[in-house]
Amino acid sequence: MLNERSMELYKEANQYSPGGVHTSIRNVEPHLVFTKAEGAYIYDADGNKYLDFQAAFGPYILGHNYKKVNDRVIDALNRTDLYGVGSTDLEIECAKKITKHVPSAEQVLFCNSGSEATYHAIRLSRAVTERTKLIKFQGCYHGWHDYVARNMLSEPHMIGKRDPGSAGMMDEAIDNTLICTFNDLEDVERTFNDNKGEIAALIVEPIPHNIGCIMPEEGFLKGLRDLCDQNGTMLIFDEVITGFRHNIGGYQNVCAVTPDLTTMGKAMANGFPMAAVAGKKEYMQRYNTYPGGDVWFAGTYNGHAIGTAATIATMEIMETEPVHKHIFELGERMRQGIREIHDRLGIDAYVAGFGSVWTTYFMSFEPKNYTDLMQNDADLYIKYRKKLLERGFFKMPMNIKRNHISYSHTKEDIENALQAIEDVLKEII
Ligand SMILES: Cc1ncc(COP(=O)(O)O)c(C=O)c1O
Repeated sequence: MLNERSMELYKEANQYSPGGVHTSIRNVEPHLVFTKAEGAYIYDADGNKYLDFQAAFGPYILGHNYKKVNDRVIDALNRTDLYGVGSTDLEIECAKKITKHVPSAEQVLFCNSGSEATYHAIRLSRAVTERTKLIKFQGCYHGWHDYVARNMLSEPHMIGKRDPGSAGMMDEAIDNTLICTFNDLEDVERTFNDNKGEIAALIVEPIPHNIGCIMPEEGFLKGLRDLCDQNGTMLIFDEVITGFRHNIGGYQNVCAVTPDLTTMGKAMANGFPMAAVAGKKEYMQRYNTYPGGDVWFAGTYNGHAIGTAATIATMEIMETEPVHKHIFELGERMRQGIREIHDRLGIDAYVAGFGSVWTTYFMSFEPKNYTDLMQNDADLYIKYRKKLLERGFFKMPMNIKRNHISYSHTKEDIENALQAIEDVLKEII
C-alpha cells in the first residue's frame, strides 16, 4: 500500500494544526489523508480505495455522499439557509418526523453535535430534579464536555476509579458523575442507595457501541427505567449511535423501554452536522425556547437548513426504502460468515454485533461490560484490522472499535470482506 502522498500532506497538516488532525483519536497508524468518498468506498491521497466500515464513527447509514440526501441539501441551499430568528419550514418538518417516530420524543430541539445534545439533556435533568449528581457507565462515551468525559477507555487499573479524560476539567463536574458497571443492576441500585435523593440523571448508551458492541442483558434497560422511577431520577438514552441506525425510532423502539430524554446525532443526517435532544413535553418546555422556560438553550447554527434538510431526506429514505432490512441482513451475513471462518480455522474469538454493527473480540466469551473487555487481545485486534486495511478494507486500527454497514454496501462487498478476513486470519495464525 503506497502512502507517500498521504505522508507529505500529513507533514503539512502538522504545520498548521496540532497533530495534523481535528479530533484526538484520528491520529492512528498508518496516517492517511483522504480525498474522496462515494457510497461504501473512501479514497486516500495516493489513490488507494477502501471499502469503508468506519463510516466516520457511524453517521453514514446510507453511504458516503448519498445523492438523494446531497440533492435535498443542495435544493434547500438554493432557496434558504439560516436566520437566527423565528422558525423555518424545514425545522418544523424535521421535528414533526422525529416526534412521529421516536417514542420518547414528544418534543425535540436541534443542535449540531452529540456532545451539545448530552450537555443540554444533563443540564435539563439538573433543573428538573434540582439535584446535581449523574450516573454514567464505565466505557460509555457521551461527548467531550466535563460532565461526562470520565471513565471512557480507562486503563485496566483505572476501571471504576476516578479517571478524568482530560486535563483542565472541573473537579465538581468529575466528582458529581458517578461510574457504574454496565449490565450490573445491583451496582446501579447500590449507587442510588449510597446517593439517596441526589441523582439527577442516569445517562446510558442503550448498546455501548463506544466499546464495540456490548448488548444489554435481558431486563437491564427496563431495570434502569425502574430504578430511575423509584429514585425520581431522569433516564437519558444517549442514542447518538443507536438512533436511526438500529431503527428509525431509535433502540428504544426495539427494546420497548422509553427514557425521559433522548439524545440523537450521527446517522440522523447521514453525515451532515446535526443533533437533537428530545423528551416529554413537560420537561422540554423547561428550555427557554419556550416562553417562561428557565433552562438556557441556544446555538447560532441550530436548525440550519443543511442539517434539517439532510435529516428529512435521510428519514424519508428510511421510511420508504428497505434501509434497515438491507443493512440488518448484511450485518447478519457478516457476523455469521466470520463465525464460520473462526470455526474453520479453530479461532477462539467472539463476534459481537447488532443490526448493521459488528466487531470481533479476540476473547473466548461474550463480554458483558468494560472489565470483561480487558480479556480482549488488543495487539491481535489492532494487527488484524491493520492487515485488513492494507487489503483495502477500512476498519479503524484501534482497540475495541466497531464497524458499520451502510445501505450502499452490497452483498458482494460483504463476501469480499469475508474472503479478506479469512485470508488475514490464516496469515496471522
Ligand atoms: C454515544 C455518543 N454520544 C455522544 C457523542 C458525542 O457526539 P459528537 O462527537 O457529535 O459531539 C458520541 C460520539 O461519538 C457518541 O458516540
